[in-house]
Amino acid sequence: MSEIDLESVLGQLQVAISQSDTFVRAVLSGRRRNMQPEHERIDIRPVQLKDGLALQISYSDGRQMTSKNFPLAELPFMDLALSGYANILVENEGETLSLRISKKGSPLFTRSKNTLLRNLDHDRSKKRLLDASDPFLREVGIADAKGSIKPSKMDKYKQVEEFLRLLVPTLNEAISAGHLHHPTDQHPLRIVDLGCGHAYLTFAVHQYLKAEGIPAKVVGIDIRPASRDRNNAIAQSLGIDSTITFLAEEISATSVEEADIAIALHACDTATDDAIAWAVNRDVPLTLFAPCCHHDIQVQMKVSPEPWSLITRHGIMRERLGDLITDSLRIQLMKLHGYRVEAIEFIGGEHTPRNLMIRAVKVGTEAEIEEVERYQSMISLWGVTPVLAAKLNH
Ligand SMILES: C[S@@+](CC[C@H](N)C(=O)[O-])C[C@H]1O[C@@H](n2cnc3c(N)ncnc32)[C@H](O)[C@@H]1O
Repeated sequence: MSEIDLESVLGQLQVAISQSDTFVRAVLSGRRRNMQPEHERIDIRPVQLKDGLALQISYSDGRQMTSKNFPLAELPFMDLALSGYANILVENEGETLSLRISKKGSPLFTRSKNTLLRNLDHDRSKKRLLDASDPFLREVGIADAKGSIKPSKMDKYKQVEEFLRLLVPTLNEAISAGHLHHPTDQHPLRIVDLGCGHAYLTFAVHQYLKAEGIPAKVVGIDIRPASRDRNNAIAQSLGIDSTITFLAEEISATSVEEADIAIALHACDTATDDAIAWAVNRDVPLTLFAPCCHHDIQVQMKVSPEPWSLITRHGIMRERLGDLITDSLRIQLMKLHGYRVEAIEFIGGEHTPRNLMIRAVKVGTEAEIEEVERYQSMISLWGVTPVLAAKLNH
């Protein structure tokens, strides 16, 4: 990584984006010290419209995304780039350019080779990621004998598909940014699904990565021996048991010691805390957790600091606030342990009310004292101690 002049680097990034025959995508994310860009993240990609090639900017605020198309010559790249983003990634077919602006404002710039191919579809948001005819869907009980998704399993199928939709770009980005190694047959991605239950997601991740040619070894962990036996039998019948395996273990006491990616979909109550603690204590580079029911903080919220009783006096609102406090403390603890963390809605609320995902990448930044103080004020204001805090090594 070399340290050079910011303006010259931005010029190089702009040139790369203007290569209309090779530009794949650009991502602006993270916040520079003391700067506040208008949007949390910006994605730029080429799209083929009726009247020619354009660049589409998607502005994302965690929950909502809006898009606008620009003629190639009118892309306001410099304005966006100077508005306060700390990370700018530009990918062209063959080469990835990555700029990170350090806390002191120094630009750190890398160029590396890649094997990306671009996709100019105008609307590719809802392409199916899972092959509906894949026999795993029938084996796990999501599809019927004819290969149609069972109506009773439609919500679970959608949750799995949307979870994958987030996992895949997150994974690619983590590889591009050097947070994850480039997977090979000798060095596959090690993925652990914590609290895997019937393993809909576990098998889906395995099958999707296999179809994409991404070498991976997947382990599903669930406390129930019946889940382990059923899932291992399915893996055997599909002939994939050399790359996916299931264990009947408590998350907190699992024999699995390492992973590149840890995932958990609706691991009950504090099992999500066990999953987070397992990953954080082992410096797992990438984690995606969609929490389930929350009781730990709810039961500790005995006295509300005023004027918060305006919310907590109503049962349903108290419960929702308890969920939010729980997840915000989880996020903050991960942040204090060197993770860059986002909370995102991974699927519409009509498919599950438990639709928040905590996505985190280990970046190794040291905890800022203000952030430690924020965490302390929150727990003392509410008189709570999150169960996760005691599970994390210090
Ligand atoms: C609500 S289910 C979700 C299953 C699966 N991830 C899905 O989305 O379909 C939660 C699963 O977590 C498992 N579980 C709960 N606590 C656990 C723990 N401490 N260790 C391991 N598994 C646990 C349960 O047995 C159950 O199968």
